[in-house]
Amino acid sequence: MRGLSEERQPRILVVDDQEENLDLLEAFLTVHDYQVIRARDGREALAQVAQAPPDLILLDTHMPPPDGFEVCRQLKLREETRLIPTIIVTTAGELESRVRGIEAGADDFLTKPVHRVELDARVRSLLKLKQYTDELENVEAVLVSLALAVEAKDPSTHGHCERLSDYAVQLGQQLALPSDHLRALRRAGYLHDLGKIAVPEAMLLKPGPLTPEEAKIVRLHPVVGERICRPLRSLRLVLPIIRHHHERWDGSGYPDGLAGESIPLTARILQIVDVFDALVVDRPYRASLSRADAAQVLQEEARKGWYDPAVVAEFLGLLNSDGGLLQAGSAAIVR
Ligand SMILES: [Fe+2]
Repeated sequence: MRGLSEERQPRILVVDDQEENLDLLEAFLTVHDYQVIRARDGREALAQVAQAPPDLILLDTHMPPPDGFEVCRQLKLREETRLIPTIIVTTAGELESRVRGIEAGADDFLTKPVHRVELDARVRSLLKLKQYTDELENVEAVLVSLALAVEAKDPSTHGHCERLSDYAVQLGQQLALPSDHLRALRRAGYLHDLGKIAVPEAMLLKPGPLTPEEAKIVRLHPVVGERICRPLRSLRLVLPIIRHHHERWDGSGYPDGLAGESIPLTARILQIVDVFDALVVDRPYRASLSRADAAQVLQEEARKGWYDPAVVAEFLGLLNSDGGLLQAGSAAIVR
């Protein structure tokens, strides 16, 4: 969440098992006022990153296991570290090392002996990239905070977004969705109702049924939410979920009256977990249902043609697995 601000020196982790290589790289980097942290093997590097994620990593390949490729691979697999730019330092003429580095997800390469000018250029451009990524993350964090503030207006929905995120990712995993769509589901769990920021509180908390006029305003929230998030390219897979999470399989939903598979699958997933979670908590207009009763309502509404029956069946399968619970937190690896 941190950006590289003027007052903060970028932190660069240099990993090499040869002390003289570390000395050389540190000497090059400290000239530019970068803060250099050293690690003498892969294990120490991973521990350093876990403790305080740096802004950039320079990784030697020839180290006792885990070597540089393995460290890079592990960092790129983890959601919380995959956006840290990583430069692999290879020995000249090792084409195979480059190939392995690309496979491990390295962002760039340097060849030994490292030339100062080349090092400066690579480091500078990757730190710039990191700064943009951090800024984007900050904007996303603001949007999520706004969405949580909207959620907090209704005390009965406490924790709804978090559970939704978790359930949606579990259902997405069950349906073998690719990781970028799982990430979109996680974000959509928080952002799907952001557009309710435009709905007066009295309507959100009204204990009785809404008047047709009020219902019209509430039904604008998917469009408003999509409009707020649209400028962020990083949310492009989240936008269809926000816009279409109230469509219905038979075409009777809103805002676009989409039907069947023209409703994005991710929106169909979020919709089902949203309906389920809303049923199992107390709302201003009705008491909570048990999980079993909520599952029954979901099935009845699916029979009416409101939801994708295949996705409902997968969801109920998940609900009945492992002792009948969707354990919150079990999908926490996808952020
Ligand atoms: Fe909604």
